[in-house]
Amino acid sequence: MPRDSHGHLTPGRISAQRPVPASIPRPEYVGKAGPAPYTGGDVYDAPTVELIRESGRIASQAIDAVQAALRPGVTTDELDRVAHEFVVAHGAYPSTLGYRGFPKSICTSLNEVICHGIPDDTTLVEGDLLNVDVTAFKDGVHGDLNRTMIVGEAPQATVDLVDRTREALRRGIKAVAPGRQVNVIGRAIESYAARFGYGVVRDYTGHGVGRAFHSGLVIPHYDAPQYDDVMTPGMVFTIEPMLTLGGVEADIWPDDWTVTTRDRSLTAQFEHTLVVTERGADVLTLS
Ligand code: MF3
Ligand code: CO
Ligand code: CO
Repeated sequence: MPRDSHGHLTPGRISAQRPVPASIPRPEYVGKAGPAPYTGGDVYDAPTVELIRESGRIASQAIDAVQAALRPGVTTDELDRVAHEFVVAHGAYPSTLGYRGFPKSICTSLNEVICHGIPDDTTLVEGDLLNVDVTAFKDGVHGDLNRTMIVGEAPQATVDLVDRTREALRRGIKAVAPGRQVNVIGRAIESYAARFGYGVVRDYTGHGVGRAFHSGLVIPHYDAPQYDDVMTPGMVFTIEPMLTLGGVEADIWPDDWTVTTRDRSLTAQFEHTLVVTERGADVLTLS
């Protein structure tokens, strides 16, 4: 458990909510059904960009700690504990905890889970493909990133999917430049993924991030000319492509969070938060 006789994932047991010290400021949506409408825009001054970079650094280092704890036999709940303790030890709030009712401090998306997997008592085994997504909130701003990791060793096709998804994110970031429309990003990602016949998920996108977790700005990972927002220096958003070894249709579990490929094909994702500069992009979610 929790995998069925075909090795497909099934929902596990979710542990009690982890406490956050009262001294750590919460995002405004915690304890409410959802965030307040955001009206603040996506362009930030230099000091605020540095605050986003600090939140992003904490989130990135939390993923480093998770990566160091990754081994066959560990549960995704234990990885949630590792990240949670790292984030709060650095004076930050784990943004997913209490976001629209999400019960945990990170997302753990395993194998056929595209995104938004809830940490539970699922035990990792050799060859698993695990995405860990961490967002940290400190000094009023969020930094959001994710990485996909392999538990031990996996078949070459799995390794290739991970490497090429990381490369797809790199190419999306390279397409960023002031004066261009945001749709250049998805065009770069989709044309690269198409070389390998990979599916590019459309139902979930990159997003503006900073004072809001999801600002309303949408960054598609596929060729979508109608997303014509023009990038300007100081604009902050994520790019977070999800590629699959099969189709792009998604199913959502009864928990209302866990998103899987309908065909149960493997899927990988990488995410960074970046700021648009005069020359291109500056990644804000580095360790
Ligand atoms: N961090 C995710 C993103 O990249 C959002 C997770 S929201 C949650 O946008 F509620 F599922 F945690
Ligand atoms: Co994101
Ligand atoms: Co994220």
